Amino acid sequence: MNIQSAVLTTYSEGAKEVQAELCCPVDYDTSLLKMLPQEIIEKDYGCGDPSRYVREGDTVVDLGSGGGKICYMAAHLAGESGQVIGIDMNDDMLCLARKYQSEMAEKIGADRVRFVKGYIQDLALDLDALDKYLSEHPANSANAYHDMLAWQAKQKHEAPLIADNTVDLVISNCVLNLVSDAEKTQLINEIFRVLKPGGRIAISDIVSDQTVPEHLKANPELWSGCISGAFQEQEFAQVFIDAGFVGACYDKWDTTPWQTVEGIEFRSVTLTASKPLANNSHRAHELIYQGPFAQVCDDHGNIFMRGEKTGINATSYAALTSSAYQNQFIDCSPSSGSTIASASCCAPAANEKSDCCQATP
Ligand SMILES: C[S@@+](CC[C@H](N)C(=O)[O-])C[C@H]1O[C@@H](n2cnc3c(N)ncnc32)[C@H](O)[C@@H]1O
Repeated sequence: MNIQSAVLTTYSEGAKEVQAELCCPVDYDTSLLKMLPQEIIEKDYGCGDPSRYVREGDTVVDLGSGGGKICYMAAHLAGESGQVIGIDMNDDMLCLARKYQSEMAEKIGADRVRFVKGYIQDLALDLDALDKYLSEHPANSANAYHDMLAWQAKQKHEAPLIADNTVDLVISNCVLNLVSDAEKTQLINEIFRVLKPGGRIAISDIVSDQTVPEHLKANPELWSGCISGAFQEQEFAQVFIDAGFVGACYDKWDTTPWQTVEGIEFRSVTLTASKPLANNSHRAHELIYQGPFAQVCDDHGNIFMRGEKTGINATSYAALTSSAYQNQFIDCSPSSGSTIASASCCAPAANEKSDCCQATP
């Protein structure tokens, strides 16, 4: 069985019967768990709790939403003006999540969650629409296959499942590791595409302390069990930085491994980061690092000494004035033509003489 089929089969079974070996212990907010149906609590295959990063009013996308637990918790936290889109490729999981949608809408006070069928590595492709197209135009010849590809490109362009720059927060609970290595870069680029400038990620996933060897990667059971597709722990943050994310932080790191296979430790972590604000300024920028460390180095290689003015380019400036670095830098850029630092922060009070201000998100 190939890896994609193994992932589909494993989670179809997981939607029908609880699969104890896929469960990783997680401390959820018990007050939020109380509102969930018992079946959703039991069919939990997550390894962290990214719902705790949801803010009121957020548009949230949950990658690999499974039974919908995190989506329902997020919908409660996002409040009246928020909305949550759960994405999963598995019909049985979507069916399980949707089964409780009206019951949960009553408990939450509104139907703020949508569960849609999609691949998390291709967030423009609408798999429900593709299923419908294929039922009407079976791809049973090379020509029909090419027509299907053309239809797919048009659908992605004209009616993307998730459009560019529309999401405040992308969350995921134990899913990125299930995507094939060949598609992992595309997956991270897709997350970047759908986020608004300044948008955030909170990704709970399994990472490994060493690179996983090919013979373990080729094992469908270990792959679909959230083990052998894990990112190596340093590589996990790096792939997000390479895609353009800033402020990558391991916000949770389980010191005790969830599993150890052939001496390789697999543990649960939660990574947070954000997409920088739009970089539309070419003027000179200067920041002062506030501390508490004597010096720090950012992901672009800039070194900041505590309390010292440091000149940086517009890309670094856009990154370091994003909310991920709140309260770390003081913005001392020349105020003329300022496009990023907020005017209210930078304008000194009438009786003050200051040309520096706190960098603002
Ligand atoms: C380990 S379970 C986690 C489910 C859920 N996040 C939770 O916390 O219980 C993985 C889920 O991701 C889905 N999944 C795996 N690979 C996917 C992909 N490439 N695209 C969309 N969904 C995927 C599976 O169908 C399954 O529901």
